[in-house]
Amino acid sequence: MNFEFYNPTRLIFGAGTLSQLGAVASAQGKKALLVTGGGSVKRHGIFARATASLEAAGVSLAECTGIEPNPRITSVQRGADIARKEACDVVVALGGGSTMDAAKVIAAAVLYEGDPWDLIGHGQENWVFPTKTLPVVTVPTLAATGSEMNCGAVISNDETKIKSFAQTESLFPKVALVDPELTLSVPKDQTAYGVCDIITHVTEGYFNGIDNTPLQDRFAEGVILTALEWGKKAVADGADIEARTQVQWASIVALNGFVMAGANPAGFPVHMIEHAISAHHDITHGAGLAIVNPAWMRFAATSRPAKFVQFAERIFGLKARNSNDLDCALAGIDAFEAFLTSIGCPTRLSELGIGDELLAHYAEDAALVLRDQDGNLLGRPPMSRQNIIEVLR
Ligand code: NZQ
Ligand code: ZN
Repeated sequence: MNFEFYNPTRLIFGAGTLSQLGAVASAQGKKALLVTGGGSVKRHGIFARATASLEAAGVSLAECTGIEPNPRITSVQRGADIARKEACDVVVALGGGSTMDAAKVIAAAVLYEGDPWDLIGHGQENWVFPTKTLPVVTVPTLAATGSEMNCGAVISNDETKIKSFAQTESLFPKVALVDPELTLSVPKDQTAYGVCDIITHVTEGYFNGIDNTPLQDRFAEGVILTALEWGKKAVADGADIEARTQVQWASIVALNGFVMAGANPAGFPVHMIEHAISAHHDITHGAGLAIVNPAWMRFAATSRPAKFVQFAERIFGLKARNSNDLDCALAGIDAFEAFLTSIGCPTRLSELGIGDELLAHYAEDAALVLRDQDGNLLGRPPMSRQNIIEVLR
């Protein structure tokens, strides 16, 4: 097991910490580009509290509102134009993963002369990895992506129908200011999709990683068990601050690099497939994962049953006849799918009104970036186009 772990984002966590935003941002710059989504932060009073804290600390503001779920590259361009025109020297993201992702790429695009789409890997010859960005402060209002404390950002392109990612060290936010109270207003469905996203971030590492990673396995299982227990409570009662707090901490740990360090996953196949579907149908990421993940697991379990048996036993308390008991492995996947259904996630494309017309397109797009020499989608095992189509069927 060989690896390097690096995460320079300062994390400030806890109910009430939003009041520290002014102090945190003023340490990074004097004029902030405040990036927000479609209006939820204004409707729920979060925006007013954030701006009050910023203004009290002497930070002046320019605004980039209207970042859409599944943020578009056109919004990134618009944000970068505003930041340049207003001479912003720090970017503050106040919203869900979409807002944070857009803000991170805006912070890079401001200092990049070319087309911001160059920064998103989509199979181009020269994928640009920016080394300079404006400092970013993330303030998540939804627990799901972990974007607040990682160096990834997922952006969509309406023209090409590609949804893909930027990932490089300079995209780590300087500070993640995480106040679980801000998630109290997240509706039931988005809460459930977030729980699915959290679980899927660790299952990608768990099932696609190398063998013999006992500590990483326990970390991942800890995140999953926490998400199952507290996620259910957060969905049942959105006002339960304890549940919101535990779910949000799980969301951060799930994808800040720590859990998968040394597991060195061969790929993130469930995510790559979901992104390809999202790009065509603009569905919610976590809902798409709830459909793809159990189906992918059934495919992968046949080539690596022992890891799926471990999942079934340790997560759902099932008992296997032996360490390669495929029936037990599949029963664990059924239990996972039943959990997703119980919290209100879809588990079939048809539930979202998606038919099988574009399966070949999704299969092609999914393997655009994370592919092996033969063009197969990276993962354990690698997937041919036909494998992807069968999983989606
Ligand atoms: O846009 P507003 O009005 O803010 O409403 C949002 C949006 O409609 C709403 N919402 C957010 N906070 C709320 C709230 N509603 C009420 N109260 C609040 N406190 O929720 C809706 C969904 O928001 P969005 O930001 O799209 O959700 P999420 O956090 O799940 O982010 C999804 C995006 O992140 C990408 C996904 O692909 C997708 O584009 N991902 C980013 C990752 C990363 N950077 O590491 C990893 C993930 O795997 C994922 O791919
Ligand atoms: Zn995800």
